[in-house]
Amino acid sequence: MNPFIYSYPVKVCFGEKAAAKNLPAELEKVGPNVLLAYGGGSIKKNGVYDELMGILTESGKTVTEFTGIMSNPTYAKAQEGAVLAKEKNIDFILAVGGGSVIDCCKIISAQAKLDKDIWELEYTDHKQPTEFIPMGAVVTAFGTGAEMNNGAVITNEEKMLKSALWGAFYNFAILDPAYTMTMPMKQVISGTFDSLSHSMETYMGSPREVNLSDEINEATQRNIIRNIRATLKTPDDIRARSELIWAAAMAENGILKIGKATDFQCHMLEHQLGAYTDCNHGQGLAVLHPSLYRHMMPEANRQFARMATEVWGIDPAGKTEAELAADFVDALADFIREIGLPTTFAEMDIPADTDYKAIADSTVLTGGCAKKFTKEELLEVLLECR
Ligand code: NZQ
Ligand code: ZN
Repeated sequence: MNPFIYSYPVKVCFGEKAAAKNLPAELEKVGPNVLLAYGGGSIKKNGVYDELMGILTESGKTVTEFTGIMSNPTYAKAQEGAVLAKEKNIDFILAVGGGSVIDCCKIISAQAKLDKDIWELEYTDHKQPTEFIPMGAVVTAFGTGAEMNNGAVITNEEKMLKSALWGAFYNFAILDPAYTMTMPMKQVISGTFDSLSHSMETYMGSPREVNLSDEINEATQRNIIRNIRATLKTPDDIRARSELIWAAAMAENGILKIGKATDFQCHMLEHQLGAYTDCNHGQGLAVLHPSLYRHMMPEANRQFARMATEVWGIDPAGKTEAELAADFVDALADFIREIGLPTTFAEMDIPADTDYKAIADSTVLTGGCAKKFTKEELLEVLLECR
């Protein structure tokens, strides 16, 4: 175990009717001017908007709406939200959606309290914001676990970067499985793969010896694999879905990261793929993971071999560590195909003339990865994925 301090600020209200049961009391703690932020309108079709508006009105709040937060939220959209929040003297932000809305609001909350441009503050001055508009999250699409952390993944279109900015933690997160029942199955699958990826990226970090966090991680991965299979078989199985929602949160609530430095090389590469192509995050990870992992052999074999036996149930009898590691990557690739994720960029409709060299060159190389990649080798990975 590496040394650590563990303390967690996000209050989680989990279960059916969680908003009706908990939101009124949470709203009592905040000021009267609320920014209700959401995406392209799915919440208007499935009743979530009406229910939340009812609660906000009954709580006597003055509501300003901020809509149209897109998947892979842009820096410009976050800036637009911050201007509105300042203009309307917003006291509290209620973010309703998936990772995109939840991340965008983290930056709105910080930028609205800053005179300086937050990108410059964080990436030029290497400082972090200290004042925020308080926020609550209502999760309607699971997978990222964004509601449980203070990182916001934002696409800066001018700089051609999709990068993490650091904002505030949410005061609370409402996780009602019923709200996620209308998610398109494609999004359920890609979101779930994102959760699995977060678990693996954490597992693959250092130190390489297994610790308690890794054993909890193995259970989380097994749970994700079992419950996406159950959800695909019975899409209205709310019990399986509720497991996936909590597994997504577990993968990003810091518990699996205790005593570890994480890997996240695959995420860094996918984020830059997203910066250049605006692709779906979970799908990008699904295409990249097997190829990147094959390049991480033999350096990562010990951890791959353990995932083979402890996560994928592969019998180790008579097998070397290298053989088990290869079996793990094959099992992962088979699973990706089984649950209907793409296996090539072409299947994701990523244009053939995409500038893969620019993507590789702009990708951050992570310190926790078992293999020290070069930009040239990342380019090889990208080209193999076409
Ligand atoms: O915009 P609306 O109309 O709401 O539609 C959304 C969107 O089209 C739809 N949706 C959400 N809830 C729904 C629903 N449709 C029907 N019924 C519902 N209940 O789902 C679509 C995708 O939503 P989005 O929020 O974009 O997806 P996701 O949750 O996968 O978030 C992706 C973003 O999160 C970032 C990704 O890079 C990407 O920008 N990530 C954030 C992380 C974090 N902060 O911890 C970690 C991740 O690694 C990731 O990078
Ligand atoms: Zn992710």
